[in-house]
Amino acid sequence: MRKRIPLIAGNWKMYKTGQEAVDMARRLVQLISDVTETEVMIAPAFTALAPVSEVLKESPVALGAQNMHWEKEGAYTGEISASMLISAGCKYVIIGHSERRQYFGETDGTVNKKLGTAIQSDLIPIVCIGETEEQREAKQTYSVLDKQVTKGLNKYTAESLKKLIIAYEPVWAIGTGKTATPEQAQEAHQFIRGLIEKRFDDKLANSMRILYGGSVKPDNINRLMAMPDIDGALVGGASLDAEAFSKIIKFES
Ligand code: 13P
Repeated sequence: MRKRIPLIAGNWKMYKTGQEAVDMARRLVQLISDVTETEVMIAPAFTALAPVSEVLKESPVALGAQNMHWEKEGAYTGEISASMLISAGCKYVIIGHSERRQYFGETDGTVNKKLGTAIQSDLIPIVCIGETEEQREAKQTYSVLDKQVTKGLNKYTAESLKKLIIAYEPVWAIGTGKTATPEQAQEAHQFIRGLIEKRFDDKLANSMRILYGGSVKPDNINRLMAMPDIDGALVGGASLDAEAFSKIIKFES
């Protein structure tokens, strides 16, 4: 018996035009019409949000965004606000993905501000954390995760974080085909849950969903989901193909 409802989320990154995203969303909705016990989310590019939201309307698949600015509005060329995402049909927002940290200067500080905006706007935040290969080799995995959690979640109460989802995405496993072993992922997830208990309380630690991300595929999802602290997956490459993604979503069947 699972303690938490699993969530399988697809991060489509900078792939698919509006039409391609709509076509894939239609196919996905058909393929997973029999799935009832797993929550599903897809995060297409900003330009595809509104048309994909139309496709998802009568379906259990939820819509998410890949990023967001923390301000309500303003002179921030190229950015997007929480209310824009909500009006395009989003329920979730991914915050602090390692690609945002690596290429676009995001820090635990910006993650912290964006998290506050998501909470206030009633968007479900998925905060991404994870160590690089260098950090793992230098045995810094736990200290990196500790810092990302501590600074990223700083100043919020357990009550305000009750919808928060954390995605553990080791940078060395993203897009590389090198998945963390289920044991490595479990160890990190257990550590993260322990941090939440230490910094907040056991109620939040027990209810918080922690997703694994990094080269999740139909042939490794089962073993990952068998781990007690893995509550779902944030999938990149394999979420771009409706057949592959639907197999990941049906890990239990
Ligand atoms: P891949 O599944 O392509 O490794 O990407 C993972 C990821 O970054 C999801 O956010």
